[in-house]
Order: sequence, then structure tokens, then C-alpha cells
Amino acid sequence: MATQLSELETQLEDLRAEGITAIAACQTLDELEQLRINYLGKKGKVSVVLGAMGKLDPSERPRIGALANEVKKALETGLEETRTALQRAQLEAQLQSETLDVTMPGVYHSQGRIHPLNGIIDRALDIFVGLGYTVASGPEMETDYYNFEALNTPPDHPARDMQDTFYLPDGNLLRTHTSSVQIRYMEQHQPPIRIVAPGRVYRRDTVDATHAAVFHQIELLAIEEGLRFTDLKGTIKEFLRQMFGDLPVRFRASYFPFTEPSAEVDLQWQGKWLEVLGCGMVDPNVLKAAGYDPEKYTGFAAGFGVERFAMVLHQIDDIRRVYASDLRFLRQF
Ligand code: DAH
Repeated sequence: MATQLSELETQLEDLRAEGITAIAACQTLDELEQLRINYLGKKGKVSVVLGAMGKLDPSERPRIGALANEVKKALETGLEETRTALQRAQLEAQLQSETLDVTMPGVYHSQGRIHPLNGIIDRALDIFVGLGYTVASGPEMETDYYNFEALNTPPDHPARDMQDTFYLPDGNLLRTHTSSVQIRYMEQHQPPIRIVAPGRVYRRDTVDATHAAVFHQIELLAIEEGLRFTDLKGTIKEFLRQMFGDLPVRFRASYFPFTEPSAEVDLQWQGKWLEVLGCGMVDPNVLKAAGYDPEKYTGFAAGFGVERFAMVLHQIDDIRRVYASDLRFLRQF
């Protein structure tokens, strides 16, 4: 009996020594799991030794039981230590391989950019909002009334010649200017009025370096008691100063059916003067058409050519470039 006892003890001690060595030398978590099964699993080496315990005298069993527990614990501790070390090493390797070099150039995604015409409109509206104006809009397809008649331009008026346009079968037309928004807005609101209205306009114009058949304007309208020409001039000058800085500006007397007196403003472009806007004091007939009392209210109005502004601001030599969708051109802005 004694031999059996010491034999089992020896076996357990051998298992401990052999197991600890194998566990310590283990290189992967998979191998480690295999070792755990081999030693501590249900049919593992420790269980096999314990199975032989049945042959022992019952009085000797506690000793082997205690030793077996000790060996199990030792192996478990070894397994745990190696597992922790292997896991740490694995994490370390992963971190190494996934290191992010923040100094590497990123992947470039083109964001596109604002078209120069929209850029001008955005800037102009920003400036006018800063001066207390509200943004308004109107339809591109207009009636003869809003585009001409209410703007003091009856059918036989010679000024219509300069604003021939595209007529629709139903008698409507594509608006020749954003001035139609003046009437539409006045009909819906009461003074004081301060609006800017950007939009597309159409003309039967021969296309050349400074003319297009479809272009953009920004309309301005201010109505109140006591507005005078100096208010108009001050507003326009301040706007142009914010838009262009200290560029030379020329005010020139002019004529529009819907303003009296009227003026045009020119800026320097390609070494000569280029007309960029028309303006004037709102004609009493226009105020009447909108249902306002011209004895009580006065106002000023202006129409800016967006393309012309872009041409002066960016010194663009030909208006057709802004419609050509040539990225080599558009990427410059
Ligand atoms: N509507 C004019 C045009 O397109 C520009 C203009 C001139 C607008 C004088 C105005 C103005 O509001 O007062 O040629």
C-alpha cells in the first residue's frame, strides 16, 4: 500500500514539474488551452491520477487529495500567468501593427466650391443684411404687368426695346430684370421697406464679352417717409466699398422709366468703365401702382448686375467664362 501512495505522490509531483515547464514554454493561447485540457480537463492527467486513488486505503486518500489540489492550483496559477503574458503580448503586437502615423498626409476628397456668381450673391446679401435689409424673391416667369406696366413702362414705351425678352404662348414672359419683385413685395407689405432680391433674368441680347441672354441681378428697394437721393448714394457707395474696397466709382445720370432721377454706376474693368448697376429714386407712378401715397412716401431702388460684379472683382475678361463649367476656370475661386 505504501508504495502505491508514494507512487501516486511521485506521479503528481512529476505532473506538476512537467506541467509548469510546458505552460511556461507555451507560445500561443491555443496551445495553452490545449495544455489546460491535457492537465486539468475531465479526462486530463490529474484526473487520471486521482482515478487511481480508489486503490488506496481510505485513510491515505486525504493526503493524495490535498496534494492533487495543490498541484491543480499550481498548474492553474501557471496557466493564468502565461495567459496574461500571452494576451498582453498579443495586444502589444496589435498596437504596434495598428499604429497611426498622424503626420502621414490624409486621403484627399474634393469638396467642390461656391460658384463665383453665387459667391458674389452671398457677399452682397451679407452686406445688405448688415445694413438692415431683408432678402426677398419673385418668379422668373412674369406677367407683362409686373415686369413692365406697374414699373411705369406701358406697351408703347420706347424703353421696352432695350429689354426685349422671351415671350411665352400664354402672354407671360421671362422677366427682364428683378425690378418686378419691387411691385410684388410692395403689394404685400407696408413701408418702411428695405429689401434685396437676387435672381436670374432674361433678355433677347446678343451674347458678347459683357452680355448674356440669361444673367443675374440683385434688386434693392427702400421705401420710407423722407428718403432722399443722398440716402441712395450713401447706401450704394457703402455697399461698393464693402464689396470692392477703394475702387474708383463713377455715378452717371441716366434714365429708367421706374425711377426719377436715375443714375448708373460704373467701375473700372480692363482699363475702362463698365456699367455695373442702375439706380434712382422710385418714380411716383410706381408707388401709386403699388397702392402707396407718393405724397407721403419716397424711396430709392437699384439693380445690380451680378456677372458684372464678378468680372470687376475677379478681373474676368469674358462673361461667357462664368457659364462654361470649365473647372480650370472655376477652381480659381
Ligand atoms: N432694372 C434695371 C435694368 O435691368 C436696373 C435698375 C435700374 C433697377 C434702376 C432699379 C433701378 O431698381 O432703380 O436695367
